[in-house]
Amino acid sequence: MKNFSRAVQLIDFNVKGDDRGSLISLERNISIPFDIQRVYYIFDTKTDVKRGFHAHRNLKQVLVCVNGSCQILIDNGKEKTTVLLDSPNQGLYLEGLIWREMFAFSENCVLMVLASELYDESDYIRNYEDFIKECQ
Ligand code: TYD
Repeated sequence: MKNFSRAVQLIDFNVKGDDRGSLISLERNISIPFDIQRVYYIFDTKTDVKRGFHAHRNLKQVLVCVNGSCQILIDNGKEKTTVLLDSPNQGLYLEGLIWREMFAFSENCVLMVLASELYDESDYIRNYEDFIKECQ
């Protein structure tokens, strides 16, 4: 994971905790390395479901599993690795041409995604062969 690519990083968030519990604040260009334009979250996902199966051309994202757990397969066209997201204290940063598949969602999983751009279908590559061609 460490040497996978500079376009993929696990970010440890600063947790503010006291005897009441914990708090994490995500701020654009500070804890999140871009200007957040969009937030969406995936929830009520069936455990045997796989999602994603796409790459982005320009989008930057941070994926945070704020509740439960899930796994993310990431593929830069040369190497693949799987990341377990099971803590609200960490975010998975993905930039540019990275194929991603999300799976093994726990029953209570809430996967929040912070994105650098508004939704734009033209930024998606949804065909794996096209992705491999664009990587070259
Ligand atoms: P989809 O890309 O299939 O989700 P996943 O990557 O998790 O497999 O998106 C599901 C639907 O939601 C699809 O019709 C596109 C739409 N959508 C938006 O309208 N806005 C968004 O920000 C996102 C991420 C998806």
